[in-house]
Amino acid sequence: MALINIMSFRILGTGMYVPERIVTNDDLSKLVDTNDEWIMQRVGIHERHVTTHETCTDLAYEAAKAALDNAGVKPEELDLILAATVSGDYACPSLACMIQKRLGATCMAYDCVAACSAFLFLLETAAGYFARGKVKKVLVVGSERLSRVLDWTDRSTCVIFGDGAGAAVLGEGDGYLDAVFNVYGNSEVLNIPSYQGASPFSTLGETHPYVHMLGQDTFKYAVTAICGDIKKLLERNSLSADDIKFVVPHQANKRIIDSAARRVGIPLDKFVINIEKYGNTSSASVPIALDELHRSGKISDDDLLILTAFGGGLADAACLIRW
Ligand code: COA
Repeated sequence: MALINIMSFRILGTGMYVPERIVTNDDLSKLVDTNDEWIMQRVGIHERHVTTHETCTDLAYEAAKAALDNAGVKPEELDLILAATVSGDYACPSLACMIQKRLGATCMAYDCVAACSAFLFLLETAAGYFARGKVKKVLVVGSERLSRVLDWTDRSTCVIFGDGAGAAVLGEGDGYLDAVFNVYGNSEVLNIPSYQGASPFSTLGETHPYVHMLGQDTFKYAVTAICGDIKKLLERNSLSADDIKFVVPHQANKRIIDSAARRVGIPLDKFVINIEKYGNTSSASVPIALDELHRSGKISDDDLLILTAFGGGLADAACLIRW
């Protein structure tokens, strides 16, 4: 194995948090014309967690706290907090600033916007700080209250998403081996417009901040992106499917994962799949799946993992991690 070995970081701990309220497919069938069979067959979701009183910051804070506890790191030891959300409580301040305040940390903190792929963009951003020797401990958090950006009368979108947060604490090491990123600026396939309409001078008209998606276009893009990114990582690091212990994919649709696994030639049982319980939680999806995998005790030191994600941007990414 010829791995590209750049001094970067290793993952010291992970955490997640989902709101208490569980909404099942049967619950949704009372809101829109849908049913458990359609949602399970087409998407693979049985239930999702939805906020009632919790804010996006609340979810992020709980996941961050869990990751810090898991890593044995105190908030005052953090040198940087990086966060991502497309459904935050404020346009400003950033989610990262709110996490910093709630944790009582004093380090630099800011957000990156890359929708469902954001957690991987955060890892790459963190790697740059580690490579420059600027940080020793970094917290990365993806948190979403997507229930507030859904049109709950639109059955083609409201059944797909869920709320939650995932986090990881990074420390010095050489566990982040390689990463690939692709961005294709495009608002037609997938978008969440900002609210517009307050200006008396604007002629743009009112827009509601709801998820809009061309489902089949997104599906095709997703499968192509996952396969292309994983193949590139394997090829340029001279690895085969046998070398990879687990793949942690973005949880958008069980059929997307099945199809990508088949095409890329990695057995499906190496893919972490938890979409049935949480739906698509965007930037929280990969760190939630990673936390569940980590806490299951199935990963050992030196295992190779691939994380992979795609989504609004359009943006997709994959990275190779040695545990
Ligand atoms: N319940 C029941 N029927 C539904 C439904 C629902 N929740 N949502 C849509 N339908 C209907 C449609 O109205 C359509 O009916 P028609 O044939 O009478 O017109 C039929 O089901 C098929 O719709 P279609 O959109 O072609 O289904 P699909 O197989 O493409 O599945 C998605 C739709 C959204 C599940 C699928 O395209 C998908 O998962 N795409 C990727 C989405 C994604 O990954 N998004 C996140 C990116 S980060």
